[in-house]
Amino acid sequence: MEGRFITFEGGEGTGKSTQARMLADALERKSIAAVLTREPGGTPGAEAIRGLLLDNALDWNAEGEALLFAAARADHVANVIQPAVEAGKWVICDRFLDSSRAYQGGEGSISDADIMTLHSIGSRGYLPDLTILVEVDDAEREARLSARDGDESDRIGGKSATYHAKVAARFHALAEAETQRFVIVDGLGTPEDVHARVLQAVQDRLGGIS
Ligand code: TYD
Repeated sequence: MEGRFITFEGGEGTGKSTQARMLADALERKSIAAVLTREPGGTPGAEAIRGLLLDNALDWNAEGEALLFAAARADHVANVIQPAVEAGKWVICDRFLDSSRAYQGGEGSISDADIMTLHSIGSRGYLPDLTILVEVDDAEREARLSARDGDESDRIGGKSATYHAKVAARFHALAEAETQRFVIVDGLGTPEDVHARVLQAVQDRLGGIS
């Protein structure tokens, strides 16, 4: 049987990495083989590119950044994601294409059409079966980020609160424009509360896990 490809998206501090792990664990408990992975990264080559992208000492412009993310994704899709889905596994990925659209796309930088073109060149346009956008409000995100990172954020995580609010708005717009693929999950509450919402959404959209 063909597997599934599910991505988690959202700004920093939304709890999506915790939710990705909890979903992968829940699937395993239901005897569904799951692969938990993340972007940028997930293969040795893509992890090497991740190091370049998140290095505070480097200063990529928007174009270079978008190309590096697309290159990392190409390696990840070809060597991990697609083979696992074809082998019948459920791949859970912490960030994917929509992070490029929300972070690298947007006003005055790379157009959404160009990001999609890079994805079609790099990964033959490979898309998730379901994308879970975990949302929290701006105040909650700022509180969680300063509790998590303090002064230690990476090159992208360390950008201003205004930047992160714009990213959150772009994610929201993407979800509203593609309601077939996206589901928005409220990230407020305990990890268990949010996990229950995630499981419900996966069951509603894809079935097979109840
Ligand atoms: P990471 O430490 O994984 O952040 P988080 O825990 O919030 O997911 O760092 C990934 C950073 O890279 C994050 O700031 C978002 C950014 N990013 C992009 O800008 N474009 C992309 O395509 C991807 C996958 C990530």
